[in-house]
Amino acid sequence: MADDIKVQVRNLVKKFGELLVLNNISFDVKKGEFLCVVGPTGCGKTTFLNTITRLYEPTSGEILINQEPVNLKKHNIAYIFQEYSTMPWLSVEENIAYGLKIKHMDKRTMKEAVDEMLELVGLTQYRTYYPNELSASMLQRVVIARAFATKPELLLMDEPYGQLDVELRFKLEDELIRLWQKLGTTVIFITHNTEEAVYLSEKILVLSNKPTAIKKEFVNPLPRPRNISDPEFIRIRNQVTELIKWW
Ligand SMILES: Nc1ncnc2c1ncn2[C@@H]1O[C@H](COP(=O)(O)OP(=O)(O)OP(=O)(O)O)[C@@H](O)[C@H]1O
Ligand SMILES: [Mg+2]
Repeated sequence: MADDIKVQVRNLVKKFGELLVLNNISFDVKKGEFLCVVGPTGCGKTTFLNTITRLYEPTSGEILINQEPVNLKKHNIAYIFQEYSTMPWLSVEENIAYGLKIKHMDKRTMKEAVDEMLELVGLTQYRTYYPNELSASMLQRVVIARAFATKPELLLMDEPYGQLDVELRFKLEDELIRLWQKLGTTVIFITHNTEEAVYLSEKILVLSNKPTAIKKEFVNPLPRPRNISDPEFIRIRNQVTELIKWW
């Protein structure tokens, strides 16, 4: 059903001069789906997200949201960058309110939205703190809270946990899943990490080396909650690892 489709990518081609990066990519993301994209370094994952948000114009092809060409004035898209960042001159609550201010939300509704997000990520007592007074995990929570606060219809995440230690990554992944389930957001999440993709996703797109095409679309059959040491989890993880062998 077309109504279930949030994002349609159709014959997307992106070149930088003579360099062909995205070579005719097509796929759909369903409403509320959690899609993970895995692909080798430099294959064009960040370029793809930058094309969705119109930071880059596609060379050809199109990206539709709710059957219409992407339009940031109309479509509420949140983007967590590879080098994620808080704004150091703003407090925790001001960071979270940032996207809402841009949308000229009235003060009361904004406060309610910020309070809800602070509560959801467990930072209520740190609302007046500044980023330099927070740990790495707290900073990540601020970034996540800011992204979810605007209730985006599409959330793009570019390897947000790549730099973090394993324990912290697990915690934040669980928190992300909890928010995603509660808020029903459609998510496109980029990662290098097979285990992370299998833990988080409902569907995995495996990309090839440049010029980049979709090597495989893999539907993740695992029920939730998931456990990385469960034999079935390990079996699926191995299956995906076989698919991504770029070497
Ligand atoms: N603005 C640009 N101008 C020219 N070339 C670019 C530009 N942005 C990206 N590229 C090139 O496009 C290719 C894909 O880059 P991109 O950053 O999208 O890869 P990636 O898959 O996100 O890599 P990584 O896994 O390291 O994050 C690279 O060869 C890169 O050099
Ligand atoms: Mg990248």
